[in-house]
Amino acid sequence: MKVLAIESSCDETAAAVVENGTDLLSNVIQSQIDIHAVFGGVVPEVAARSHLEVILPVVDKALADASCTWDDIDALAVTYAPGLVGSLLIGTLAARTLALLKNKPLYPIHHVEGHVYANFISHPTPAVGRGSSFSEDSALPAERPKTDNQIAGSASKENDVNSSDGPSFPLLALIVSGGHSQLVLFRDHGDYELLGQTQDDAVGEAFDKVAKIIGLPYPGGPSIAKAAESGNPKAFAFPKARMQNPYDFSFSGLKTAVLRAVQAEVGVTYDFPSHQLPERVSDVLRANVAASFQHVAVETLVDKAEKAFHDYSPTSVVIAGGVAANQELRRQLSERLPLYIEYAPMYLCTDNAAMIASLAYYYAEKNEPTDPRDLEVIPSLSMTKTAWARS
Ligand code: KG4
Ligand code: ZN
Repeated sequence: MKVLAIESSCDETAAAVVENGTDLLSNVIQSQIDIHAVFGGVVPEVAARSHLEVILPVVDKALADASCTWDDIDALAVTYAPGLVGSLLIGTLAARTLALLKNKPLYPIHHVEGHVYANFISHPTPAVGRGSSFSEDSALPAERPKTDNQIAGSASKENDVNSSDGPSFPLLALIVSGGHSQLVLFRDHGDYELLGQTQDDAVGEAFDKVAKIIGLPYPGGPSIAKAAESGNPKAFAFPKARMQNPYDFSFSGLKTAVLRAVQAEVGVTYDFPSHQLPERVSDVLRANVAASFQHVAVETLVDKAEKAFHDYSPTSVVIAGGVAANQELRRQLSERLPLYIEYAPMYLCTDNAAMIASLAYYYAEKNEPTDPRDLEVIPSLSMTKTAWARS
């Protein structure tokens, strides 16, 4: 079954064709990063307008790259929740219209659940999988795709799962992006339980905010990771939040601790205008703050993942979402968990439509398509409300 999916929940306009949930035939990502970088973050109205301009050419390119015509496509899928309302509306309107015009079944997909399914896509060929962009000058993922999508755990090899077959259930997913930080236990496709989530900022959001404090460009995750390479992760002892539910996260206290530490280092008080702070931050301070923040943020994620691993004994652990691209997260996880950690190549960790198409295949096995005339967007919808196969 070939699914064409559309994803437009935030600042990437994306379309992809995936066969049977696993085979990536095309993956088009038109990033708006350059447009929003000027403002230091995503501007919702600008995002919606930009989606509108490129969505149909992006869909056409996804079809062409997959060497498909509409006759070859068995179903359409689209992200309907959660995300920016204007952005979601453009993607769903396009999908609903195409479903009616081309007479295809349409499946509504939850974006955060979709991130996990980046790990089900197997053997993307570099030519297809890297993510081709619609226009020549748009930003392609900066890093080369890995040829190997697993990292070996450093502990007992007897516990390894046969990772070449892809993730297996029960599956522990650490979903870490700009909007979400969640630990989810999947018993099967669509049958999952939210173990914990952030009570305030998402971890990617914390990377973005800390980057702003020390004068690193948006998006903050990759800039912090790069700056951290030359910094000392022990230069600052930033705090970890203690939570009532041991699987919950909180990152706003960490962000404030970084702000206070930087203010103290450059000799200003808390009422100093924060937009003037970066010009007082030296390169050494910037690198040390980046490394120390990244170390604690990542260690917090890994502490919780490790506890969940021991409490629930999953046979697979996957990391998903934009922050899964973080090398320090991959390193710490592989050091502390005694099994292969599944992670998708970089271009499938950040927002893309291939993950939506993959999930739609499994969703369609157990669910009827939706009526294109009735599909509505839900800008904030927790994953717990979308579990679709619990008996
Ligand atoms: O999944 P995603 O593309 O969009 C959302 O659904 O939020 O995630 C974007 C987030 C941003 O906050 C970005 O700073 C973060 O992922 N990110 C990273 C890295 N690459 C992207 N965070 C840490 N390290 C990275 N290498
Ligand atoms: Zn995302």
